[in-house]
Amino acid sequence: MGISMQIIDPDHAIGVIKTQPPAGIILSGGPASVYEPGAPSIDKQIFKMGIPILGICYGWQLMAQLLGGKVESGKKEYGPTNLVTKDFHDLFYGSPKRSVVFESHGDSVMKLPTGFIVLASTPSVEYAAVGFPIPKMYGVQFHPEVHHTRFGKQLLENFSTRICGLAVKPVRLDLQAMISEIKEKVGSKKVIGAFSGGTDSSVAGVLVARAIGKQFIPVYIDSGLMRDETLQRIKNTFPKLLGTSVRIIHAREQFLQTLKGVTDPEQKRKVIGKLYIDLFQAEASKHQDVEFLLQGTTYADFIHSQGTKRSAHIKSHHNVGGLPKDLKFKLLEPLRYFYTDEVRKIGLKLGLAKEVVFQQPFPGPGHAVRIMGEVTAERLAKQVLADSIVVEEMQKSGQYAKIFQCWSIMTGANSTAVKGDGRFYGEVIAIRIVKSKDRMTADWARVPYKVLAKLSTRLVNEVPGISRVVYDITTKPPATMEWE
Ligand code: XMP
Repeated sequence: MGISMQIIDPDHAIGVIKTQPPAGIILSGGPASVYEPGAPSIDKQIFKMGIPILGICYGWQLMAQLLGGKVESGKKEYGPTNLVTKDFHDLFYGSPKRSVVFESHGDSVMKLPTGFIVLASTPSVEYAAVGFPIPKMYGVQFHPEVHHTRFGKQLLENFSTRICGLAVKPVRLDLQAMISEIKEKVGSKKVIGAFSGGTDSSVAGVLVARAIGKQFIPVYIDSGLMRDETLQRIKNTFPKLLGTSVRIIHAREQFLQTLKGVTDPEQKRKVIGKLYIDLFQAEASKHQDVEFLLQGTTYADFIHSQGTKRSAHIKSHHNVGGLPKDLKFKLLEPLRYFYTDEVRKIGLKLGLAKEVVFQQPFPGPGHAVRIMGEVTAERLAKQVLADSIVVEEMQKSGQYAKIFQCWSIMTGANSTAVKGDGRFYGEVIAIRIVKSKDRMTADWARVPYKVLAKLSTRLVNEVPGISRVVYDITTKPPATMEWE
């Protein structure tokens, strides 16, 4: 929203707040329960300083507990729910009476601290939004910061402007400052680039190439786990954009070998991440003065791989959690503090084509995390074919541009079918098509039935050994987008 902010660990908050008093404080959500030993807490003085406070989810529960209310576990809610607002004065100014909000919590506040009034409720949580207008303390049980809370941004804007008295300015992404920062950090050393052709690594690569020119060595590791068109794009489009050709390392066999017998999702991500790094290190050792490894890590990757002290470990995104401890490079991660929508803006500013900037994200471990259980050459070939059918049909039907991501999953489950008058027992394929803005939350796409019907027919007919097709209708949260 163009408001500067600082993220502070609650253990040190009071000291920082006293020396640099902010216009407002947000106590964020988090995975803990207030009753857990070691759960994050904050000095109660914070409530007496006259600074407006908004508690979100855990932040609100903590606030309620410290101010004499009661938090209990039991009323769990995950995903979208309907909020009915009763009070439109400050927090809900400009919002409608009924709207959809995203919840993700195990505990709830069951008794309000003295002085708080109810501003809005959901069918199962009475105290979904509460306020204590003087001295400006507010709490929400749902997540206004996620895209799927319809008026969440409005709520945060109301808190910032109407309650804290701040002014909202348009966000400016200062390309020149980013380029100067990279130049200064790298100096005369070389950077080897983990280049995948996806949005994040393309934007990071072109940004770095813009900053340091030939000191940048872009490398593409052909793991065989990416979509087929990626390799073509790497060969044809990128040399022009980067001003240098991309070194391609052919490693399909090596990846299959490494994945042999690996069935645990976290283990899969880790072995893939390690092989990537080993191959990079081998390539880098051929060049003099390579000191940095470029990664297109974004803020969402960072949070999912436990980037902040208090966030939960969801899964090891291969470009973050999979890194070995004895990494021989320093990391260069120019997009670490940006979300997908901001990364896209940077890409457009750098002059990248819309097809590159708005392409679907594809996970670093690729098809491997879309094949439940062991990845064999045979199952990989089926997954590549199934995925290409999903993408092709979505494009043909005009649905592709309306969604965030679509793909197939080899579920590892088997089911009975009748094929050619005989019993057939084969694997179940799932289709996942999601809408999302920032990858932190997602909703399953309401794709027209006729598209799903076409997909089902093609998948059982064209992909060998498939008995059944199912459509994944789970929101994130609770389900992550990828199955592994
Ligand atoms: P999840 O499954 O965490 O996915 O809800 C959120 C988004 O991240 C992508 N994803 C990855 N991207 N390395 C990546 O670069 C990874 O290891 C990885 N895992 C998931 C996923 O496709 C979705 O866009």
